[in-house]
Amino acid sequence: MTPDSQPRVFATRHLPGRAFEALAEEVTLEVWPGPGGPPPETLRAALRDAEGLLCLLTDRVDRALLEAAPRLRVVSSCSVGLDHVDVAAAAARGIAVGHTPGVLTETTADLAFALLLAAARHIPEADRFVREGAWTPARRWEPDLLLGRDVHGATLGIVGLGAIGRAVARRAQGFGMRVVGWSRSPGAVEGVERVELEALLRGSDFVSLHVALAPATRGLLGRRELGWMRPDAVLVNTARGGLVDEEALAEALREGRLAAAALDVFEEEPLPPTSPLRAAPNLVLAPHIGSASVATRTRMADLAVANLRAGLAGEPLPHEARPEAP
Ligand code: DGY
Repeated sequence: MTPDSQPRVFATRHLPGRAFEALAEEVTLEVWPGPGGPPPETLRAALRDAEGLLCLLTDRVDRALLEAAPRLRVVSSCSVGLDHVDVAAAAARGIAVGHTPGVLTETTADLAFALLLAAARHIPEADRFVREGAWTPARRWEPDLLLGRDVHGATLGIVGLGAIGRAVARRAQGFGMRVVGWSRSPGAVEGVERVELEALLRGSDFVSLHVALAPATRGLLGRRELGWMRPDAVLVNTARGGLVDEEALAEALREGRLAAAALDVFEEEPLPPTSPLRAAPNLVLAPHIGSASVATRTRMADLAVANLRAGLAGEPLPHEARPEAP
C-alpha cells in the first residue's frame, strides 16, 4: 500500500511499548506530541479526514466530534472505561468503538488494595512524619503514634462485582477479610456474600468502588449513601470520580462522619485547586494511576492498536463496546 492509499489514523498520545512501530508501516499515523492531549479544536481538525482514532480517557469523543469526522470507521480507546466516548452516537454512524478490558484488571485491583492499606495504616502521614523531622528521640516509639485500623478480620464491601471487583475480593480474602458485595447484575461470586447496597454501606469497615460510570451510576454514593457509611469506615475509589458526590464526601471527612478515604479518580481531573477534597482530612490522593504499571500499560497499548487495526480492516474488534440498552 502506498502512503497515499493507507488509512489515516490520529493518535492523541504516544503509547508505552512498541505498539506504534508496526502500525506506522500500515497506516499514515499522526501522533499528537503532547504534553497532554490535543485541544478539542485540534482533535476536530485532525478527524476531518482520519479513518481511525486512537484516544485516551481524557479525550472527549462526543456526538458533535463524530459528526465532524465523516471518514471515521473506528475509535479505539486505550482504556477500559468508555464514559468519555458516546458509544451510541458512534454505533449510529457505523463507527466501531474498542476498549481494553481484562488486561488492567489485576493491576487496578493492586492499586485499590494499596490505597486501602495506605488509608487504613496512615502510610502517607507516616512518610511525612519521618521526612519532616517529627520522628525525634523524644518520640522514638509512642504507644499512640499513627494508630490505624486493622485490615485483617475487617469487612470489605465491594460495589460492583465485575472483573476488577472480583480481583479485589480475592486480595481481601488473602488478607483474612470478610467480603460482601453488591452489583446490578446477578450471579454468585466465590467467597463474596451478596447484599443490598444500603446493607453493604452500613455494614462495611472498608468500601471499594468498582462500577463503570454511566447515567445509572453517576452519583451512586450521594450524601444519603455516604451517610449510611459508618463513622469508622474507609472509602476507596479507583473506578470513576463521578460515582461519588465529592462535596458531600469532603464534608463527611471534615465532620468525622467518615474515618478516611483514598481516591485515585475524581469528577474533574486533574483535581482542581478549588476542590473541597484538597483540604479534607484523612484522605489519600493519587492521580488516576490504577493501571499504571509498565507491563499493563504496554498490554493496553497493544490491545488498543489491535482494536484499531481490526476496525480499519472492517473486522470484529477483539474488544468492541456496544451501546448500553436504554
Ligand atoms: C481505564 O482504563 O478506564 C482506567 O481508568 C485507566 O486506569
